[in-house]
Amino acid sequence: MAAGTWHPIAKLFHWGMAALIAYQLWLGWRAEELPFSPQKIDLFITHKSIGLMLLLLVFLRLAWRGVKPRPPHDANASRLERGLADWGHRLLYALLVAVPVTGWWISDTSRIPFKLFGELPVPDLMDADKASSELAADVHEFLIQALVVLVVIHAAAALRHHFLLKNDTLKRMLPWQ
Ligand code: HEM
Ligand code: HEM
Repeated sequence: MAAGTWHPIAKLFHWGMAALIAYQLWLGWRAEELPFSPQKIDLFITHKSIGLMLLLLVFLRLAWRGVKPRPPHDANASRLERGLADWGHRLLYALLVAVPVTGWWISDTSRIPFKLFGELPVPDLMDADKASSELAADVHEFLIQALVVLVVIHAAAALRHHFLLKNDTLKRMLPWQ
């Protein structure tokens, strides 16, 4: 593996989590719009379960990043561009932790019982509290909007590197490169 590229495990985390997040967004929006029904409950069980898996995955991903640090930035990038990229990535990681944590907060303070994939008990950390659960839902929704905006900017920046600046930034993150 060349020194200037992403490790296959980092690529697997990146694209695997991106796909799960896309599915997770669809599940959340779809579940929200359905009327109360067994299907709505099933979608929420899957949403909460995949969301908690994503929380575990982001910590594993950060641990892996500690073992195998990221490749260097494009040599032609200015200090400002590197700073923006680094802070953008930090913010993305922060949201990848905060979004599932706020989801867990909604679930934990609501009166709806929840087991991971309908099977495994999840630690019960807080008492049921309607006001707290509603606040958590507002924060969850706000952070999701921030995540979606940031991901759009992030993907646009990657495409700019590829099509306008014509460097390897996107190519070296692609799974088949
Ligand atoms: C990266 C992870 C996650 C993403 C991207 C995500 C995304 C979403 C989205 C798009 C919605 C619909 C928001 C709306 O339009 O009102 C939603 C709602 C919800 N999510 Fe998540 N979620 C994640 C993790 C979690 C986790 C881990 C849990 C619980 C363990 C959870 C529990 C909920 C609940 C209970 C709602 C309904 C909130 C309400 O009553 O308004 N989410 N989520
Ligand atoms: C939910 C969607 C996504 C999330 C949460 C996400 C998150 C991240 C994060 C946190 C990093 C930094 C990795 C690190 O330094 O450890 C990264 C890098 C990267 N992402 Fe994404 N990403 C998403 C989607 C995309 C898409 C759609 C593209 C392409 C169009 C893309 C292209 C890249 C590239 C090229 C890098 C490497 C940047 C560099 O070398 O500095 N990502 N992504």
